[in-house]
Amino acid sequence: MLQDSVETSECFLFEGLRMPLVLSNVETLRFAREEFLVRDDDVIIVSYPRSGTHWITEILNLIRFNGDPTWIQTVPVFLRSPWIEDARFQKDLINQNGPRLMVSHLPVQLFPRSYFSCNAKVVYILRNPKDIITSIYHVSRGFVYRKQPENFDEFLNRFIKGDVHYGSWFDHTLGWIKKRDMGSFLLIFYEELQRDPRGSVEKICQFLGKKLTPGEIDLVIQHSSFSAMKENKMSDHFAMDSRLQKAIISPMLRKGVCGDWKNHFTVAQSEDFDKFFQEKMSSLDPGLFPWF
Ligand code: A3P
Repeated sequence: MLQDSVETSECFLFEGLRMPLVLSNVETLRFAREEFLVRDDDVIIVSYPRSGTHWITEILNLIRFNGDPTWIQTVPVFLRSPWIEDARFQKDLINQNGPRLMVSHLPVQLFPRSYFSCNAKVVYILRNPKDIITSIYHVSRGFVYRKQPENFDEFLNRFIKGDVHYGSWFDHTLGWIKKRDMGSFLLIFYEELQRDPRGSVEKICQFLGKKLTPGEIDLVIQHSSFSAMKENKMSDHFAMDSRLQKAIISPMLRKGVCGDWKNHFTVAQSEDFDKFFQEKMSSLDPGLFPWF
């Protein structure tokens, strides 16, 4: 049972989901869904943790300033683009002038209801869940308050059951993909960003209605590269945010590649996971996912 395994020092249960206390609490989650007013000119990046959220956030911040890196190099990422469910910034966001660029890991059922009746834009970033598992496994091992995973297999099983922060990846992904026709919604893949950064930036610009010159697009790609973000301390959420600083000793930017899962999954684990994936996601076109 999920309830039995919750470690109250680092998370709390909200409607059956294990949520990290370092960011939210029951009040902020209730406020986010029931009262937070999304505006027509908002852009919101939504993701399951470790999907490339900070990467896409950097890209959108750079697009906003035509590739000029001054903003991303002088203001910490969590202030440039606050989390809607973050207890510290939620109330400030209400008074912030638009257009706002915000971030959220919330599953669709906990997302602000007001979004579904306005023209705000959501950019949803998806990543191969095997790489997400690998990434979270490493971060969990550097999470001070969190019970360390006993081993990779134990963590993999918990991930499959959804007994991890923000609940099941499968439910998060299905929930959002099924709602994609309800609003202004762009689905972008981590793997696509890796394979074709220029095409991805152009696609995002088109979605945002923003025209950049080829030189400005070069700047966006250059300043959002893994090496540039690794050097820019303002991009490192874990290091810059005093609460996360205390909670997590892993680097926010770890490897930044596709396919690191191959160094962690056994053949049997991979086959079992693929089978589970196909069963859970059978209502979607398998051609949707670029990792198959
Ligand atoms: P790894 O742990 O596999 O390296 P999130 O921002 O959603 O927490 O996702 C973090 C993951 O995105 C980490 O994956 C991190 O290294 C990767 N990432 C962040 N910035 C990146 C970039 N510019 N290029 C490639 N990967 C990046």
